[in-house]
Amino acid sequence: MNAPLTSFTPNSLEAHWMPFTANKAFKADPRLVVKSEGVYGWDHKGGQVIDGSSGLFCVPAGHGRKLIADAVHEALMTNDYVAPFGLGHPTSFALAQKVANICPDGIDHVFFTNSGSESIDTALKICMAYHRARGDGQRTRFVSRERAYHGVNIGGVSLSGMVRNRETFSGVMPNVVAMRHTWLEENRFTKGQPKHGAELAEDLQRMVDTYGGSTIAACFVEPVAGSTGVLVPPKGYLDRLREICDANGILLVFDEVICGFGRLGTSFAAQAYNVTPDIMTMAKALTNGCQPMGAVAVNDDIYDTVVGGGPDGIELFHGYTYSGHPAACAAGLASQQIYEDEDLFKRAAEMSDYFLDAMWSLQELEIVTDIRGYGMMAGIDLAPNGPAGVRGGGFQQRLFWNGMHVKFTGDTGIVAPPFICEKSHIDEMTDKLRKSLLEEMST
Ligand SMILES: Cc1ncc(COP(=O)(O)O)c(C=O)c1O
Repeated sequence: MNAPLTSFTPNSLEAHWMPFTANKAFKADPRLVVKSEGVYGWDHKGGQVIDGSSGLFCVPAGHGRKLIADAVHEALMTNDYVAPFGLGHPTSFALAQKVANICPDGIDHVFFTNSGSESIDTALKICMAYHRARGDGQRTRFVSRERAYHGVNIGGVSLSGMVRNRETFSGVMPNVVAMRHTWLEENRFTKGQPKHGAELAEDLQRMVDTYGGSTIAACFVEPVAGSTGVLVPPKGYLDRLREICDANGILLVFDEVICGFGRLGTSFAAQAYNVTPDIMTMAKALTNGCQPMGAVAVNDDIYDTVVGGGPDGIELFHGYTYSGHPAACAAGLASQQIYEDEDLFKRAAEMSDYFLDAMWSLQELEIVTDIRGYGMMAGIDLAPNGPAGVRGGGFQQRLFWNGMHVKFTGDTGIVAPPFICEKSHIDEMTDKLRKSLLEEMST
């Protein structure tokens, strides 16, 4: 199927300052997607591109879902906007209930945001509000991890451990300390949870021993660190973090922005690894990528303490003009409906072995230095050929023109197909990756 060409000329691209993009290079040689359907997109030259990363991990049900588009249309035609401060509309309550239903037991309350980054900054503020409401306001320190990615707002950047995302910005929050990440040489090419590395959770104990547990508000981790290359938690690692948090009154926050809504074959990573945090941040697949939306789900203790135990009047001085926007809620409800009707999380679990085996078949190529993966997500490290990101950026373009989209961070590709994929789609992705890697090796 050929995509209709859009009417753009290279010099009409300057007005848009693109995010996390090499603007000059892109504008000199643009890659525009002008149509998407199912697991495919079409570029502006008419080429078909298979979506190997579900966009940015947010389109598990595939592109162009009519149920979602119709729901958004209907929301906009019947109740397009309701001021969310002090007013409500039925769909936000319905969506909050749907999300709470698939969260672990006891995580029953949902605050809506518009992105993963906003979810992280909201979670930070909820942690502060909780401790303050309990008379524990001296807990001002946060613990996160090296190689973490928690979005781009100042709170999230402060928690993040990716140097390029931090070094330009001097205004990060004080009082954030980083545990080591969990990548270990001896775990290279481990499929699923690595055997080695649970002891790295003791870094949290070291923070307790160094700063005092009673000064630490929360520990933020991505259960699987996604954007930095799919670092799967070693066996026992998350359980140990939970124990240390419990022993010291520290809140455990799982950043489920990528893992949430089926990526690991369960609703959330919390269920995949059987560890229940106090707070979960989410976004991305909440609306199958069709509307910007995020959410923060909290346990009953946090909600009861901040809301139930708060003074009369507004309990939490926080919220966004578009929190729980009717169109986003409609997209969220329709997406959850599709996930349920098509049993997509189970489908992800069932397809995982096939997908991971396919990715691991690339390990024979010399250029591939490590592969990690769990569920429907795999990180593939390429040997660098210069400063970090040079090879990854070049390879990403090569792959695109060979008909496949994959998100790259540095020299690591993060493959995360839509859950509606057939085995033939996985085969196509693997073939395109192999062909492109062989080309890369011969240059
Ligand atoms: C774990 C994690 N947290 C937060 C974010 C930020 O989400 P957003 O880009 O929607 O602000 C991301 C985005 O990739 C993420 O992977």
